[in-house]
Amino acid sequence: MGILKKFIKSSVYHEPLPIRRDVRFNLPADRIADWHTAAGPIFTALLNTFSIVLPIGERFFIDAVRAHRDLVQDPELQKAVTAFIGQEAMHGREHEEYNQALFARSPIAPKFEALVLEIFGLLKQHLPAYFWLSGTIALEHFTALLADSVLRTPELFEGAEEHYANIWRWHAFEET
Ligand SMILES: [Fe+2]
Ligand SMILES: [Fe+2]
Repeated sequence: MGILKKFIKSSVYHEPLPIRRDVRFNLPADRIADWHTAAGPIFTALLNTFSIVLPIGERFFIDAVRAHRDLVQDPELQKAVTAFIGQEAMHGREHEEYNQALFARSPIAPKFEALVLEIFGLLKQHLPAYFWLSGTIALEHFTALLADSVLRTPELFEGAEEHYANIWRWHAFEET
């Protein structure tokens, strides 16, 4: 048996369970390019670009976890898997709405999404599922670090349009 399979089978979960929150942000689409005038257009473009990759990445994470859920023995870890999938699905839904506003404004944005989609498609096609899971663990560690920085720097969203500030805060809270 592979070491990862063995590890998953023997894993037990002690942390609080992730909570799936069905929150809708109803982002004002007309503010997509200038939702943070205080921080400026580069900051806004940076987070807008980050948003493009989120639903794709989250779907990849969900698939990676799903591919291994049958191995999970611990009932708490089984619950955590379900909760994680539910939480990421909510993030994906809200960021898809975010991205629709961006795609309507920026013609290059959907092209970037298509490129990232192709990369993740190739990864899934050519690499084994344990690699998807390893990649997920690494990338989620990265998102947790990023989320931690966001939450430790509340002034980051001072002066930002409230709905956009809230979607990033919410995502940061849940990732961490
Ligand atoms: Fe997420
Ligand atoms: Fe995540």
